[in-house]
Amino acid sequence: MRIAVCNNKGGSAKTALVVNTAAALAEAGEDVDVYELDPQGNASRRLAARPTTSDVSISEAIKAEEPGCVIDALRPCGWGVETEEQPDGTVRRVESIYSQRIRVAGARFDLENRITELEAGAHLRLKTAIGDVDAGRISLFDTPPNLGHLTQLALAAVDMVILAVETEYDGVEGAIRVSDFIKRKAEALGNPDLHVGLVVPTHYRPGLNSHEFHLGTIPDQFPGLVWSAKGPDGEPIKAIHERAVIKDACDVALPLRLYGTGPGKEMAAVFDLLAARIIKFRKELAA
Ligand SMILES: Nc1ncnc2c1ncn2[C@@H]1O[C@H](COP(=O)(O)OP(=O)(O)O)[C@@H](O)[C@H]1O
Ligand SMILES: [Mg+2]
Repeated sequence: MRIAVCNNKGGSAKTALVVNTAAALAEAGEDVDVYELDPQGNASRRLAARPTTSDVSISEAIKAEEPGCVIDALRPCGWGVETEEQPDGTVRRVESIYSQRIRVAGARFDLENRITELEAGAHLRLKTAIGDVDAGRISLFDTPPNLGHLTQLALAAVDMVILAVETEYDGVEGAIRVSDFIKRKAEALGNPDLHVGLVVPTHYRPGLNSHEFHLGTIPDQFPGLVWSAKGPDGEPIKAIHERAVIKDACDVALPLRLYGTGPGKEMAAVFDLLAARIIKFRKELAA
């Protein structure tokens, strides 16, 4: 199953959602691919899998457009991987569940070069390049903050979209713009079944007037689509709260569960609930 995480607005926690949900899915035993369509390469860096200039990145795979060629761009997530020097002088890699289960088709800034190549059918290049290399896996696509060609490459390839929505005016407006675009353009993208499957409020700060207001109105904008889950204490969780540990773990490129003690694990548990919803989507899609 393939899911793109989108919002027309930058800073709405798309990449944080992709990275932390990929971690939660791997912890739940799933095999995950992350396809990065943002030339900033934030997801690749945060997953410790940024391609060097001599590595094949998602950009070359899109350009090659051969069925399944993205396999050359997929490399393991670098979290928790250690190297041990052996008595015979060789070096052994000690893998983690993240490096074993998460593959990343990473991006460098030169992914920008794909934007101007707009021959007919160009939006299908990534779908072709992926082919069936992600069969049986859950693939998450991180997108740039616009509805241009790189986002359209993802939209043409995925089953559904998750909107990451900052609980502020501009975040909600950006999400509505993406939703309208999908309704109008799904057919033209060769993906008529494409739809928004879930809306996840992010960056929520309880008690802040604007955040309380927008958290309250998001369900009116996206009826039946807004994520909520039951927390460990039985209280409903209706948003990803703004927490310093998310920023800090993103900054040092570590999964929440391996970052520090209490707060990281507490927030990792929230992403576990989101991962559980995604696993349920896969069941629903297969039915
Ligand atoms: N729930 C959160 N709490 C605190 N900081 C967050 C949260 N989600 C994201 N961030 C931080 O906000 C900034 C923007 O998030 P990012 O994931 O890069 O957004 P986008 O990919 O939509 O541009 C980053 O510095 C990120 O670490
Ligand atoms: Mg991003």
